[in-house]
Amino acid sequence: MSPVTALLILRGMIDKQTIDKIFSAADIVEVISEFVTLKKSGQSFKGLSPFKNEKTPSFFVSPAKGIFKCFSSGIGGNVVNFLMEHEKLSYPEALRYLARKYNIEIVEKEESIEEKQLKNERESLLAINTFAGEYFSSLLKTEEGRAIGKSYFLERGLRETSIEKFQLGYAREDRSAFTRAAIDKGFKPEFLVKTGLTIQKENDYRFDRFHGRVIFPIHSLSGQIIGFAGRILKADDKAAKYINSPESEIYHKSQVLYGLYFSKLAIAKEDKCYLVEGYTDVISMFQTGIENVVSSSGTSLTVEQIRLLKRFTKNITVLYDGDEAGIKASIRGIDILLEEGMNVRVVLLPQDEDPDSFARHHNSQEFMNYISENECDFITFKTKLLIKDAKNDPIRKSSLISDIVRSIAVIPESIPRSVYIRECSKLLDVDEKILVTETSKIRRTRFDQKVRQAGRTVELPAFDSKPLPQLPAVIVKYQAEKEVIRLLLIYENQSFTIKDTENKLHEVSVKEYLLHEIENDELEFQHPIFHQIFSEIKEYYYRNEALPEKHFIFHHDSAVSSAVVDLLTSNNYNLSKIWHRYESFVASEDMKLAEIVPEALMAFKIDRVLRMLKETEDSLKNAQENNDIDNIDTLQNKYIILNNLKRELSKGLGERIIISHS
Ligand code: CTP
Ligand code: MN
Repeated sequence: MSPVTALLILRGMIDKQTIDKIFSAADIVEVISEFVTLKKSGQSFKGLSPFKNEKTPSFFVSPAKGIFKCFSSGIGGNVVNFLMEHEKLSYPEALRYLARKYNIEIVEKEESIEEKQLKNERESLLAINTFAGEYFSSLLKTEEGRAIGKSYFLERGLRETSIEKFQLGYAREDRSAFTRAAIDKGFKPEFLVKTGLTIQKENDYRFDRFHGRVIFPIHSLSGQIIGFAGRILKADDKAAKYINSPESEIYHKSQVLYGLYFSKLAIAKEDKCYLVEGYTDVISMFQTGIENVVSSSGTSLTVEQIRLLKRFTKNITVLYDGDEAGIKASIRGIDILLEEGMNVRVVLLPQDEDPDSFARHHNSQEFMNYISENECDFITFKTKLLIKDAKNDPIRKSSLISDIVRSIAVIPESIPRSVYIRECSKLLDVDEKILVTETSKIRRTRFDQKVRQAGRTVELPAFDSKPLPQLPAVIVKYQAEKEVIRLLLIYENQSFTIKDTENKLHEVSVKEYLLHEIENDELEFQHPIFHQIFSEIKEYYYRNEALPEKHFIFHHDSAVSSAVVDLLTSNNYNLSKIWHRYESFVASEDMKLAEIVPEALMAFKIDRVLRMLKETEDSLKNAQENNDIDNIDTLQNKYIILNNLKRELSKGLGERIIISHS
C-alpha cells in the first residue's frame, strides 16, 4: 500500500492502551511466518519476498526493532503495516486480527453517555445524508428530474460520468417531497431537521430546504456525504444562486474543501493542488482531466482547510477569474496560505472566464499550457497588480509597500522571505534594507507575542556550519529532507563536538543541534510526512520528554511508520550490508557525526534554494518561449537573486555542485 493510501485510513475506535498492548504482544516473526518462510540470519530473519518474485531472499524481519523490510520492492514497516500490505486489511482490521491472535480483548474507546448520544446522532445524520444523496441522484432518472435537472447539467456540458462520480442530483419542485420520502423510510423528523435537509415550522409543518434545485453533495475526506449545496436553475435576482446545508454535528463548513475526497490522491501524486472558487469549477476541471483541484466554496480559506490540504501537498496554485476587482478583494485572504508555509502561486484566467468555462472550452493540454505559461508566485503577482494603481502617487505607494511587507512577513521560512524581499525591492524600486527592516519589525513583534504566549525561550550559540563534501550530481526529490530526518531518528541523543562562531567548542546532541539550527533558520520540511515527523520530535523536545521507544515505528499513522522504516533501512550502499550495519550499530557513520550532521543541514538549506531555482528556471523557459517580456524580466531577476543566495550558502565550496545524497 502506498503511504498515501495508508494515510487515508482512518483510525478505528480502538483505544490507545489497547493499541499499545497489541503492538507489544504481537511477535512480528511469528505473525509474518504465517505468510513467509523465514530463516534466522544473524540477529534478524530472512526470506523470499512475498511482494516480488525473487530467487535470492531480500526480505528481512528484525524482532529487536519490530520491523520488516523487503529490499526488492522497498516495502517495509511494522507488524500492522505488514498485514495491511499483505492481507489488504485496513488499520483497524489489522489491529483486530492481531488482537484475536494474541487474545487481547478489544476495549472500544470508553464513551460517556454524551459521547454515545453524539455518536448516535452523528451516525443518524450520516445515514440520512446517505439516503438523501441516493434520493436526489435517483431523481435524475425520473421524468421531472430528466427534463429539468439532468438537462440542466448536460446543457452546462457535464458528462454522464461526471454526474455519477460527484453524485449530483435533483430536488423536486414539490416543497416537501424529500421530507415525506425520508419519514416514510423511518427517519426521525428530529434528525432530519438537524441535517438541515428539513425545515420545521412551529405548527409541525415541515418542508424541504432544497427544492427545485440541482444538488451537489459535499463529501468528507473519507467519502461520506456531510452536506449539500443546491443551485437554482434559472437566473433569479431574489433567490440565492446556491443554498447550502447549515452547520451541524457532521458538517463544519470551515473544515471542508469541496472535491478533496476525489482529488486527494492526485494532489499527493502531483505534489500540487489547484484552488478554485466554485463547485462547477472543480467538476469541469476533473472532466478535462485535471484532478488535483479543490474548491473553497466561494469563501476565504480557513486555517483548518489549509492544514487539511497540507497533509497532501505544500504547493498550491490559486486560479482566479479574470476580473480585477474580484481579485483585489480576495488576495488578502491568501496571506493565510503563506502563513501556513504553503508555496503559493497564482494564475489569472483570461477576461470573463472562470475555471469552469475555461475547462469546457479547452482540452487538458491547453489548460495545462495556459497554467504553466501564466503561473506566477503570489508576492510578485500581488506587487505587480497593486503597483499599477500606485504609480506616481507616493501615499498609495507607501501603503502598497507596507501591504506587501505584511504579506512577506507572514512567510515562516527565511529563504523564500529573503528572496521575495530582494525581488520586491527591485519591483517597487525601494531599498532592500528598508524592506528587511520593516519585515523584521513585524516579525519581531509577532515573535515576542508568541514567546510570551508560549512562555519559553531557548538560546543556543550560533554554530559554524562546515562546508559540504563532494556528492554525486543527482537531485532526488526530498532526499535532503529525508537525510535530516534519518539522522534525527537514528542519532537523536548522541552528541558531537562543534565550534561556535567564536571558535569555542560545544558538546551538543544531534537532536538539539538540528532542532535549533532548523528553527533558527526557519526552515520547513516540504514533504508532509517529514513535516509530521519533525513536528512530533519537536513537540516532545519542548515538553522535555523523551520520545517513547518505537514511537514512530508503532505510529498510529501507518504512512508515518512505513516511511520511518524506509528511512531506517535505506542507504546508498549494498543493501544487505546496510541491514547488518544498521542492526549491529553504524560505527563508521557514528564516528563522524560532527561532519555528517552539519553537512546534512547544509544540504537541506541548499536543496530548498535549488528547488526554487529549478521552478524559476522552468517558468523562465516558458516565458521565453512565449515571448512574455514582462515576466522574463522579473524571472531573470529572481533567478539572479536565487543564484546569489546559492553561492552565499555554498561559500568555500569552490565550484563544486552541491546536491543532496542520492
Ligand atoms: N456560493 C455559495 N452561495 C452563493 C453563491 C456562491 O455558496 N449564493 C459559493 C458556491 O460554492 C459557488 C462559489 O461560491 O460554487 C462560487 O460562486 P460563483 O462564482 O457565483 O458560482 P459558480 O461556482 O461559478 O457557479 P455557476 O458556475 O453554477 O454559476
Ligand atoms: Mn461558474
